[in-house]
Parts: sequence; C-alpha cells; structure tokens
Amino acid sequence: MSLKLRIDGKTVDTPAVWWDDAANDVRMINQIKIPFQVEVHSCSTYRDTAKAIKEMIIRGAPSIGAAAAYGLAQAVQEFWNQDAFVEHIKSAYNELMAARPTAVDLKNGLDFVKKYDQLNPKAALNRAKIFANRIANEGLKIGQIGKELIVSNMNVLTHCHTGALALVDNGSALAPLIQAWEEGKRFHVYVDETRPRIQGRMTAWELSQYGVDHTVICDSASGFFMSQGKIDLIILGADRVVRNGDIANKIGTYNLAVLANHHNIPFYTAFPTSTFDSSTRTGNDIIIEYRDANEVKQALGYSNTLMKNQIVSLYAEGEEFSNPAFDITPNNLITGYITPYGILSQSQLEKTFINRTSQ
Ligand code: MRU
Repeated sequence: MSLKLRIDGKTVDTPAVWWDDAANDVRMINQIKIPFQVEVHSCSTYRDTAKAIKEMIIRGAPSIGAAAAYGLAQAVQEFWNQDAFVEHIKSAYNELMAARPTAVDLKNGLDFVKKYDQLNPKAALNRAKIFANRIANEGLKIGQIGKELIVSNMNVLTHCHTGALALVDNGSALAPLIQAWEEGKRFHVYVDETRPRIQGRMTAWELSQYGVDHTVICDSASGFFMSQGKIDLIILGADRVVRNGDIANKIGTYNLAVLANHHNIPFYTAFPTSTFDSSTRTGNDIIIEYRDANEVKQALGYSNTLMKNQIVSLYAEGEEFSNPAFDITPNNLITGYITPYGILSQSQLEKTFINRTSQ
C-alpha cells in the first residue's frame, strides 16, 4: 500500500515528500492544491524547503519532519566547505525549526540529521532518507496493528488528515482504515471537515483513492452524530505525544475527546516514533502554533466558473480572529495509542518510546 496518485490519467506510486537524486532537490506533493490538482513542488535550497513547510505546501507532522530533515541535508550541501559552516548550519536549523512550532517530528527530523558525528553532505542526506523511510515503514506497521480495531459495519470518525500525504507514505490513523478495507471489511468513515484549513478534503481524497465509504461532516456536527449512536470509534493522529501521554493534535481534537468520553466512544491516536517528544513531560509544556487570521477570515476553494483555485472573504472587514492550529488532549481522555510497537496504554508509552526518537 502506498499513496496512489492519478497524474496524467495514470495511477502512480509516490511518497508525499522525497529527495530527487537526479535533480538533487527536495520534491513534495503540493498539498494546497489537493484535491483539485495534483502537482509536484520542488525546493532547490533549504530556504525553499522551510518556506514550503511554513506555507503548508507540505503538512502533517511526520511529512513535515521528513521535509525538515531533507532541508537540513540541503543546508549541509549548500554550505559545505564554506567558512563558518557550523554557524550556517545552526542558522539553517533554527530557520527550519521555526517553520512550524508544534509538530515535534520537525525537531526530531532535524536532530536525527544533525546529531550524526560526521556531518557531511553524503552522511546528512543518507540520514534524512533513513528518517523519511522509517516514517513510511512505520505507517505500514501502524496499519497492520490498528486494523484489528476495525470491524465490519462500524462507523468511524476521524479528524484532520492522517493518510500518506501526512506521513510520507502509508498514513497513521488512516492506515488501519485503508488496510482493513483492502482486506474486505466494510464500514463507514465520517470525515471531519477540519476548519479552517479543511484538511478533511485531503482525507476524503485519500479515502476515495481506495474506495473507502465515507461522508464529510462539519466539525460542529460530530457531537450530533455521537449522540445519535452513529459513531463507534474515533481514530486520529497526533502532532506531538509527550511523556505522560497528553497529545497535541489539530484544533478540535480536544472537543472530540470530551464528547467521546461523554458518549463512551473509544478514542485512539495513531502515530509513528517521530511524533513522540521524549523531552517534554506534559501537554502544558507544548507550544501551540497560532496561525494567520486570514485562514479563518477567508476560504480557499476551487471556482468552477474560473476553473482555478480562488480565495474568498467570509467576513466583513474589521472583525477580530484568533487561530490556534492545535489543541491539547489530556491522557485520561485517550483510550489507547496505536504505534508501530503495538496498541499501548498510557503507562506503557514512556518506556516504549524513550531513547527511540534519536536513534
Ligand atoms: O496543520 P497540519 O495540516 O500540518 O496538521 C496536521 C494535523 O494536525 C493532523 O491532525 C495529523 O493528525 C497529525 S499528522 C499525521
């Protein structure tokens, strides 16, 4: 199983982000254009890669981490043999690090490349490739392990995007659903729209690639469906899992966890090793990224008349907005953690992950 893209009428297997050896640059699927166009975006310098992360051309914590790792490898190439190599690398590290503050995969990706003893272009690129490949492989394992939770005829709710686009390949929370579907289980997925950046459209698009039955709902409708007994299971991803099991995930996750608790609905988060933050103890210590007000004030969609993407205003001028991109869900609201090492309880998390992120 890997990301199936239709490009020029053909189905091709491609990861969400990769190093193009021939062109010697970083390539990624432009996620801003999904689902209306499938376009490959190229980054020839580390600054291009940092910009692509910041502008959400690449998104989803593990894909961001892989892009950042490649970005640092680009910086090593760019500044290799120059005076002040170490200072240049430090400043490239900081610039990449500042691109998205909440997803810890970004820091883990940078550290995975930087901590290597012999930092030279070949070694840095090799490390970045290992980091990205490991994420993709762990997505497969998460799918194999998590699919046991899926039974035919159930209704599953998911939030934000957790498919191959978000995880270099294969997906986190979407992987169990896709693998279960491919094995012949038949169920239904409710896809939260995920305002304001509407990551739900990537989830819907990825589920469509595999023919998985799904319905897109407004974020505010999820409580209604739970109260109607229409949701049996919630699976979503994480942008950072800290030592006590609290998670940062896309804004709206906390609302879902509280509602799930109220309705006794199992609530799982699925994530690879790169999303574990072994240096942070509780969710209170996680930095939450606040993004531009325009993301709430405006909407990006496809104009059928103009046949191109278009930004429209949703509000009158003069309104004030606040746009936290993530929220914290405390461990007591999480039923279990779907990881490449099994479905873990909160008490198993720390000893399973500690020392793994930097290896
Ligand atoms: O802002 P994004 O699109 O980078 O955020 C992605 C998420 O928050 C997702 O919820 C996801 O679960 C984490 S990545 C698999």
